[in-house]
Amino acid sequence: MAQLFDQIGLGYRDYRRPDPRLAAAITRALNRTDTVVNVGAGAGSYEPSDRAVVAVEPAMTMIRQRHAGSAPVVQASATDLPFRDEGFAAALAVLTVHHWPDRARGLEELARVARQRVVVVTWDPSSFGFWLTDDYFPDLIEIDRRIFPTVADFEDVLGRVEVQPLLIPYDCVDGRLPDRDRRKVLTRADQLRRRRPRTRP
Ligand SMILES: C[S@@+](CC[C@H](N)C(=O)[O-])C[C@H]1O[C@@H](n2cnc3c(N)ncnc32)[C@H](O)[C@@H]1O
Repeated sequence: MAQLFDQIGLGYRDYRRPDPRLAAAITRALNRTDTVVNVGAGAGSYEPSDRAVVAVEPAMTMIRQRHAGSAPVVQASATDLPFRDEGFAAALAVLTVHHWPDRARGLEELARVARQRVVVVTWDPSSFGFWLTDDYFPDLIEIDRRIFPTVADFEDVLGRVEVQPLLIPYDCVDGRLPDRDRRKVLTRADQLRRRRPRTRP
């Protein structure tokens, strides 16, 4: 399958270094779930190492950048996950939902395969930008406001979601997460009280 990240994902791992404080916040959001499917996993940033993980990633360029010994990866799309219903305790998606061709369908798939919790790290388009984007790259923030899902978009599929600010440390080592707003990117930990999506045997 031809993928955008097969073209733009070269060298991604070099500037996307997980920050341990953000990793701890994401692991806390996953709570005590023992099995996790990480969808849109890319090179594997923020995959927890203290529980069983299966990664899902459509772009081979990204798959090739995964560290030796990282979680097993399946080449697939969020919109058609090759797993049975409730096959994992939790589903995780980090900075990927805005890339999916059909976000509602992908979110339904997360809810279908996760029996306890869906955790999504994203940017809330109703939040402010920060000085770099506001003053120097306003077009960038306008594009992002159009493509990032709103809280209402998540709730349409998942039911009520809990929204937690993910505070970005001033000295964050991740070259990607702070680029929108040093103060606030959002993480969601969603108890699965959602509409029951279509099922798969
Ligand atoms: C910005 S990267 C984030 C990767 C990783 N989650 C991280 O935080 O480093 C977005 C990822 O979403 C993936 N992606 C794009 N379309 C997708 C789809 N339909 N299903 C699953 N992942 C997709 C891309 O290939 C890319 O690896």
